[in-house]
Amino acid sequence: MSKEQLIEITRDNLEHAAAGSIRQAESIAQVPVANYIDRERWQRECDSVFRRLPLVLATTCELPEAGDYKALSVMDLPVLITRGADGTMRAFENSCAHRGSQVMADGRGNAKRFVCPYHAWSYDSTGALKHVLHESEFGEVDRACHRLTELPCLERAGLIWVTLDSQSTLDIGAFLCNYDEVLGHFNFADWHFFADRTLRGPNWKIAYDGYLDFYHLPILHRETFGSDISGQAMYYQWGPHQRVTSPPTIAALLDGVAQDQWSREALLSGVWTIFPHVSIASFVGVGAVEEDAYQGIMLSQLFPGSEPGESFTVQNFLVDRELTEVQREAATAQFSFLEHVVRDEDYATGLRQQKALEAGSREFVLFGRNEEGGQLFHQWVEKLLATSDEDLPTLFGAR
Ligand code: FES
Ligand SMILES: [Fe+2]
Repeated sequence: MSKEQLIEITRDNLEHAAAGSIRQAESIAQVPVANYIDRERWQRECDSVFRRLPLVLATTCELPEAGDYKALSVMDLPVLITRGADGTMRAFENSCAHRGSQVMADGRGNAKRFVCPYHAWSYDSTGALKHVLHESEFGEVDRACHRLTELPCLERAGLIWVTLDSQSTLDIGAFLCNYDEVLGHFNFADWHFFADRTLRGPNWKIAYDGYLDFYHLPILHRETFGSDISGQAMYYQWGPHQRVTSPPTIAALLDGVAQDQWSREALLSGVWTIFPHVSIASFVGVGAVEEDAYQGIMLSQLFPGSEPGESFTVQNFLVDRELTEVQREAATAQFSFLEHVVRDEDYATGLRQQKALEAGSREFVLFGRNEEGGQLFHQWVEKLLATSDEDLPTLFGAR
C-alpha cells in the first residue's frame, strides 16, 4: 500500500514536470508576525506542541544493541532512552526516585544498570529500582512505587519517538497517521549513525518554514547547490507530516527509465518533514568507484531555545552502509558542506529575518499558492494551540 503511494506520488510529479506545473494552494495565506515574536504565544507553543506531541529523540541505529542508552535534555526535561535486554525501547524522566538527581549524564553509552551518581541507587533498562544503598539503615523502599517515571515511547521505521508528558493519552502510532509506513521504505533501522552536531537558529517556526520551502532554493542557495535547481514544490500530507518533492528533479532522475526500474533515490527523493520538528533530506555520496555510491540523510531535529527568537537544531547524519575510508572522507566533507549551507545561508538569513520581524515594521508575512506546505504547517500549529489535552487524541484519528 505504502509502496503504491510512493509510485503514485512519483507519477504525479512526472505529470506535473511534463506540464511544467505544480499543484497550488487555493489562495495566498497571511501569518501574523506576532506568531513569530510574541513571548506568550511562544510559551504556549512550547507547552501545547513540544511538551504534548511525540518528538523524534533518537534513531534506531544510534542505539542498536541491548543496553544502549541515550540521555538528553529536551525542553528542560532530562530524558533517558534505553534499549532493554528484550530489544524494546523505553523512555524515562532521567530523575532519581530518591531525591530527584539526574541519574545518567547527557550522552550515549551502554549499561546494564543505571546508577545514580548521588547515593548510588540503581535502575535497570525497564526503569525498575534495583538497588538501594544501605537499605537496612535507609528503611525499606517499595520498589513498585519508586521506579523511573516512564514516558510514552515508540520505535517505528528506524526512528524513536518520545512524548515528554508521562500522563499523555495520545497514541504515538495514531499520531503518525501511517507516515511511518512510507518512511519505512528508507529502512533506517539498517542504516549507520555517522555524526551529529548542533546549530543555533531563529524562532523554531522560521527554521521549520525553511525546511518546507523549495521556493528559495535557486535564490538563497545559488552559490552552494541551488543554481540549477527549480524552486517548484509539491506537497503530500499524512496528517500534519509532509513530504516535499520537486517535479523537475524527479523527472531528471527518471528520464527514459521504465516504471519497474524506478530507483529508490527517485521514489524517496525530496524533503520529509515530521511534525512538529524534524526534516529529513537525502543525498547520494560518492565511493571510490561509482558503484560504491552510498546514500546518506541529514535528519534535523529542531527545538525551541530559551526565548522566541532562538532555536537549536541537531543535525544527525546517517548513511546506508558501513563506509570505506574514502567514503568516510567524502561523507565528512559532505556533512561539513550541509552544515555550512544551513548555518551560513538558511539560519543566517533566518536570524536576520527574525530581527526584521521584531523591529515591527510589518504585521503579516505571506505564504504563496506555491507554498502550500508552509500554509498547512501554520494551520496545524494553530490547531494544536486550540486543542485541549482531552481532545488531543481525536486530532489525529485512531488507526
Ligand atoms: S538522588 Fe539518586 S541516589 Fe540519591
Ligand atoms: Fe534552505
